[in-house]
Amino acid sequence: MNILKLTNGRELSYLNEVEIRMGIDERKGEERYKDELENMGISDITVHKYEGGFKIWECTVDLCDFIEENQSLFAGKTVLELGCGAALPSILTAVHGAKEVFAQDFNASVIEFFTIPNFEENPHSAVVQGEAMGWEEVPTKLNGRKFDFILSSETIYNEEDYQALHDALVAAIKDDGVAWFAAKFFYFGVGGSVPAFCQFINERGILVASEAKVIQASVPRRIIEIKKV
Ligand SMILES: C[S@@+](CC[C@H](N)C(=O)[O-])C[C@H]1O[C@@H](n2cnc3c(N)ncnc32)[C@H](O)[C@@H]1O
Repeated sequence: MNILKLTNGRELSYLNEVEIRMGIDERKGEERYKDELENMGISDITVHKYEGGFKIWECTVDLCDFIEENQSLFAGKTVLELGCGAALPSILTAVHGAKEVFAQDFNASVIEFFTIPNFEENPHSAVVQGEAMGWEEVPTKLNGRKFDFILSSETIYNEEDYQALHDALVAAIKDDGVAWFAAKFFYFGVGGSVPAFCQFINERGILVASEAKVIQASVPRRIIEIKKV
């Protein structure tokens, strides 16, 4: 088992590569998810095939730290995590008393062999649902379901996905809900950035995005807060 240690010392458990591979072998994952798992070995991301969900990305830690700083907010709340991968941020909200957590990832293999087992490794009493879908499918598949909190880490690197992310947020956020996105300020070589994402969200006029926390580093990072106008 791997352990992620947060700044305040809290620890979250998640499956290591050998445990993920054992799950895939035991449940014949290679046959069922050939396309996704083929690409997983080649690169961090193969756009719209395998989107990096089996790895813990840097900003996950920032989002978990931010959740720790706001830990009193989650008791009895509903939480959606978009592009969850390991889902450590939403697992943390479950640890802090969230009552329902919905974890979305692009890849069904990630949900089955990483996301759901990680929820089982960290004690909590939330009702958990994990589902694979593209962001453009979120409004239809959630079918009117709304959440108090929407979380997302390292998901704004591709500007082509901004419309789908925007529409997913509009569909899923409660009127008094809040979304937190953890992201690098710039994604060099891919094009996405915090200013571009915030501008895209704000120009649509339905949601308002602002910077809630600055994380200083060689590549600076941000927590973006998004609410309904
Ligand atoms: C770079 S990974 C980040 C994973 C995790 N949130 C973290 O920070 O460790 C990007 C995540 O967004 C999801 N994703 C990317 N593009 C997507 C799309 N078009 N539709 C749905 N999910 C997508 C992927 O499945 C992947 O888990």
